[in-house]
Amino acid sequence: RQAAVPAVRRPSVIVVAHRGASASAPENTLAALRTAARLGAHMAELDVRRTADGELVVLHDPTLRRTTNVDAVYPARRSRRVEDFTLAELRRLDAGSWFGPAFEGEPIPTLGEAMTTMKSCGLGALIELKVRRRDPELAQRIVDQVCADAHWRAAGAEGRLIVQSFDWVTLRAIGRLLPGVRTAVLGKTHTRYALRRVARYAAQINPHHLRVTASYVRHVHEHGLAMFGWTVNTDQAIRRLIRDGVDGIITDYPDRVAAHLAIA
Ligand code: G3P
Ligand code: CA
Repeated sequence: RQAAVPAVRRPSVIVVAHRGASASAPENTLAALRTAARLGAHMAELDVRRTADGELVVLHDPTLRRTTNVDAVYPARRSRRVEDFTLAELRRLDAGSWFGPAFEGEPIPTLGEAMTTMKSCGLGALIELKVRRRDPELAQRIVDQVCADAHWRAAGAEGRLIVQSFDWVTLRAIGRLLPGVRTAVLGKTHTRYALRRVARYAAQINPHHLRVTASYVRHVHEHGLAMFGWTVNTDQAIRRLIRDGVDGIITDYPDRVAAHLAIA
C-alpha cells in the first residue's frame, strides 16, 4: 500500500470536471475551472506538460494546433509541439477563441495559476501528468509546486489533491516524493494480481468508463483502491457508473452528474 494516505471524508460520488467544465468553456483554461466550480464540481481534472524552458503549463494535446491560434502567431515555426515553445512564447497564444468568441484571449495557464484559481473556487485538483516516457523531473516539479502551498499540502492530506498518469514509473516517483498524496493509475482493466501490485504504490485506479463494471469496482475496492471513471457524459453512462459504485465521475458536464446525484 502507498504509505500514509489518510482516509478521505468526502461526498459519496466525487464530481470531477474533465479539463475543467470542458463542455461549457475552453478546456484546461482558468475559465473552464471557474465554470466547473459554478456547475457543482468537487474537483477539476487538468493536464500538465513541460515547456521548452522547463515550466509547467496546462494543456491536453502534445501539439498546439487544435486549441490555440499557433498557426497565425508563429507561421514560420516548423514545430507545433508544446515542448518546443518557451512559456513566454506560449503566453502570446489565444487558447479560448477556438471554443467561442466569448473566450477570446484566454491564455494557456501555468499549473501555478490553475492551482491558485482552483483554490479560490474551492475545487480539489486531479492533476494528470502527460509524459511520453518516465519523467522524474516532472514529478519533482509537481512536488515542489504542491509543497510550496500550505493549502495544497493540506488538500493532499485530505484527498482533495490527486496525481494521475498513464505512466506508472513517473507516478511511483510522485508516490515516493509525496507519500501523503493520493496517486491514480490510468488505463486498462487490471487483473487481481495486477491490482495487488498497483495497491503497493497507488491509491486508486481510474479507467475509461467502458471498462467499469460492478464486479471490477468490487475487485478494486477489495484491494483497498478507489476508482474514478472517465469521461462520463451521457445520462445513461452517468447512471450506470453511479449504480456500479464508483467513487468519482470524471465528466465534461459536472452539472449533469451533480443533477443525477441530487436525485439518486
Ligand atoms: O481523467 C482521465 C482522462 O483525462 C484521460 O484521458 O485524454 O482526456 O487526458 P485524456
Ligand atoms: Ca486528462
